[in-house]
Amino acid sequence: MTDRRIWRDGEFIPWQDATVHVLAQSLQRGSLAFDYISVHEARRGTAIFRLRDHIERLATTCRIVGLPLEYAVDELVDACAETVRRNPGAKSVKISALMPSVEAELIPENPHVAVFIAAYDSERDFPSPNAELKRRRRQAVSLKIEREKSGRREDVIPPHAKVAANYTAAMTAKWRARNEGFDDIVLLDEHGNLTEGPTANLFMVDVAGNVATPPASKVLLGITRDSIINLAPTVGLACVERDIAADELVSASEVFLSGTSAGVWPVVRIDGRPVGDGKMGPATSQLRDKYKAVVLGDQPGFEHWLHYI
Ligand SMILES: Cc1ncc(COP(=O)(O)O)c(C=O)c1O
Repeated sequence: MTDRRIWRDGEFIPWQDATVHVLAQSLQRGSLAFDYISVHEARRGTAIFRLRDHIERLATTCRIVGLPLEYAVDELVDACAETVRRNPGAKSVKISALMPSVEAELIPENPHVAVFIAAYDSERDFPSPNAELKRRRRQAVSLKIEREKSGRREDVIPPHAKVAANYTAAMTAKWRARNEGFDDIVLLDEHGNLTEGPTANLFMVDVAGNVATPPASKVLLGITRDSIINLAPTVGLACVERDIAADELVSASEVFLSGTSAGVWPVVRIDGRPVGDGKMGPATSQLRDKYKAVVLGDQPGFEHWLHYI
């Protein structure tokens, strides 16, 4: 058991005490809002990447779901920084806002939203027996275009909500794809256009070297996605947000995924066929390196994205 301490509503408690009851409203109904943030040993010290943007996204999720969050963004920004300070060596922060009360009805009688902030290094604190396989999957993704389950839909729960209930359909589809030998999936919208992966945004590069990603209205507003859109021009690439049909992806020169956990990671096969020459392409490589340099504080123009603790 790790010796980390977790922030819960203003106090630090031992890791193993950060629990909720099995009948807690959020566990039973999927109403848990969360966000996942990366921590880096950057040039000028330990830094949390785009912390405020992540906390603002958590506040947006709570607003969409209707969770009455009792903290201001600034308070949670400070609490995250303090949690990282108290947990040296942490590489990630997970912040969860949930209704812990035991409830019989769908609508909670006690709408208190508890906030938990954990800062950890998953390799040290809860190592996986499949760590090597997971690492390989991040280096060369075999992607399946999921044609049965559509992605997040505005008329169900907007894709901008990072709430547990929003992940169930994607989990079912990704689990099936894993059993078929794929690493990850990309979901379509109700019109058959591409949206995103279950926990990552999608980008493609065409033969002319133009970068495209599905429109903001269709996807979770990934912080890495936004970073890539901003970084693309700095390496001489144009990036647009637009609808992308499934067939277009299959014939793209390069495809990659983006997300906090792994930054930029290349897709080398789609539906069993190689993307380009089946290796990471030059645009993907340039953007990946640029992103890595930014999170490590090696790009003065993007220092404002680092929250030093
Ligand atoms: C549905 C979904 N899309 C995209 C992303 C990538 O977002 P970010 O770059 O902020 O990690 C995530 C992150 O977990 C996600 O859950």
